Amino acid sequence: MKTNSTLLAACMGLLLVNTALAQGNKVLTIHAAEPIADVQPTMYGVFFEDINFGADGGIYAELIKNRSFEFAKPLMGWKVEQKPFNEGAVRVLNRQDAHAANPRFIRFKLNNNPPGVLSITNEGFRGMGIRQGLRYDFSCMYRQTSAGVVMHISLIDAAGKEIGKTTVTPAASGNDWHKANASFTATATDAKTQFKIEFSGSGTLDLDMISLFPSDTWKGRPGGMRADMIQLLADMKPGFLRFPGGCIVEGIDLSNRYQWKKTIGPIEERELKMNRWNVEFSHRLTPDYFQTFGLGFFEYFQLAEDIGATALPILNCGMACQYNTAELVPMEQLDPYVQDALDLVEFANGDITTTWGKVRADMGHPAPFHLQYLGIGNENWGPQYLERFAAFQKAIKTKYPAIQLVSSSGTDPDGERFDLLNNGLRDMGADVIDEHYYRRPDWFFQHANRYDNYPRNGTKIFAGEYAAHSDKTATIRDRNNWLTALSEAAFLTGLERNAGVVTMASYAPLFAHVDGWQWTPDLIWVDNLRSVGTTDYQVQKMYSLYKGTKVVSITMLGKAVAGQDSLYASAVIDERANELLIKIVNALPTAQTIALQLEGWGRMNPTVKQMLLQNDDLNAMNTLDNPTTVVPVESTITLTGKQPLFIAQPRSFTILRMRKSN
Ligand code: AHR
Repeated sequence: MKTNSTLLAACMGLLLVNTALAQGNKVLTIHAAEPIADVQPTMYGVFFEDINFGADGGIYAELIKNRSFEFAKPLMGWKVEQKPFNEGAVRVLNRQDAHAANPRFIRFKLNNNPPGVLSITNEGFRGMGIRQGLRYDFSCMYRQTSAGVVMHISLIDAAGKEIGKTTVTPAASGNDWHKANASFTATATDAKTQFKIEFSGSGTLDLDMISLFPSDTWKGRPGGMRADMIQLLADMKPGFLRFPGGCIVEGIDLSNRYQWKKTIGPIEERELKMNRWNVEFSHRLTPDYFQTFGLGFFEYFQLAEDIGATALPILNCGMACQYNTAELVPMEQLDPYVQDALDLVEFANGDITTTWGKVRADMGHPAPFHLQYLGIGNENWGPQYLERFAAFQKAIKTKYPAIQLVSSSGTDPDGERFDLLNNGLRDMGADVIDEHYYRRPDWFFQHANRYDNYPRNGTKIFAGEYAAHSDKTATIRDRNNWLTALSEAAFLTGLERNAGVVTMASYAPLFAHVDGWQWTPDLIWVDNLRSVGTTDYQVQKMYSLYKGTKVVSITMLGKAVAGQDSLYASAVIDERANELLIKIVNALPTAQTIALQLEGWGRMNPTVKQMLLQNDDLNAMNTLDNPTTVVPVESTITLTGKQPLFIAQPRSFTILRMRKSN
């Protein structure tokens, strides 16, 4: 039975709501003292896939394309010049089984050559981004019977000017391969630089793994990652890092699938593969897109650890991409795939006395990576998936019961395929189901209540790939504009309201190079020197930075705020900061005055911090040339009274950070 004071408070609340309504304001009621669910630390994360030059040509900072001559065309990306031409002076040799993972190398024969007679030039990934004053680290593997050849190394900018140089004289001789290194400083900045080696002297010189890295990689790691791109991820404080995809997990056929064991150990022993996005879209063919795996599974776990994100690897489940060959591993031959999954857990978490734990330790990380999640398959569907998932589930749960398994619900968030998987996986007691939606902005606005009636117990949801598409999916016309971002902001209020069900969410894809992309839209765009967070990035980042720890209810006339009057809202408490965080999207082109009815929050501190993301123009975009068109503006506003009035700006996403009065 309600006490008199509770009744009185309820009546007062109603009275205030009615007063505000009578004044034409919308009233949002926040029940701050009644947490509905925890917000998981994993809630907002990032999805990484080597698409759009995401890894090679992207975060993997190697500047030389086709460094080991293993592309389908061995000299792709290289230009060989000889003046005069000397047949046989340059050869590509293939060691075949003697070095199956990296069989090819290049041989130069010189006979008292002066500089300028014989050279090779690498074009980089649509050029190389070079910065004035920065140190560049060259290395290569070489072999020669006797010393006698000198390598004159230079960087040539787009105008043909030399902007950096060094000389390397390989000294060791014999039948073994050796490593040569040299560092030099660039004298100018240029985004379209080429790398040249001129050879002089006499002798036969074999080269492989010709490499050039900037010295300012993430954490200064030699052979590491592009720091500006990683910084954009770190700035989001992502809850998890999904890797390596995406369709790249599946491969066009099974031989093209991602195999984590081939991505660890010495880089010269990591077997190169054609990137499946090389040939996927006839309208965006990228014939020079391959995977060197310089960013492999060790570097992935290390990166996740660096940026404080939980690792979420996704593994092939014995199925190739169903849009391509749809090849299946017969059930009786699935064991090696399941074993790969078990071994990955050991690689990440095993003691250094275990087989795979030792491999990790030998690579420089004796401490475990604390893997908790593992995804089985990407966007696979049909009974064939359920059958294969069951085999993985049984083996992994038997050996590692604490590992949470992420399962696929296919390519679409509805329809017969989805229903079969959704029901089947729930019947199997799946931990987490991965849902994907690439849809138009309208869909995102209309589905802000998607999870309101999902079952609360048992299986959780990973909104694993989503993006609002301004045009049709997989066209070149899709843009990252303010409309797409605003619709995602609206949709995410629904994810947050249902944080008891949705425990992870990530936009996809993550990166795109302006000269090397296949798929648009993408969260972050880069060229060889610059990177920009799109409007969509700004939305994801705001949610991630202000995710709070407990969801509380926020309603309008007793209902979730999911589109009434084009308003969308969610609210969380951040127990560490002792703040109430209210997120409000106003999708109308006009401002709306909203009364905030705070219940269970005691006396509110009138000084409220406001993060505002707003633009009147739905076509507004953040670009490399104009990166700050739509970025959050932080300000302090004063909200007073029992039912303070807040003005939601036209076409805006706002986070209000409220504290109690002392
Ligand atoms: O994010 C791009 C692609 O979309 C992913 O590789 C795939 O999972 C989805 O179809």
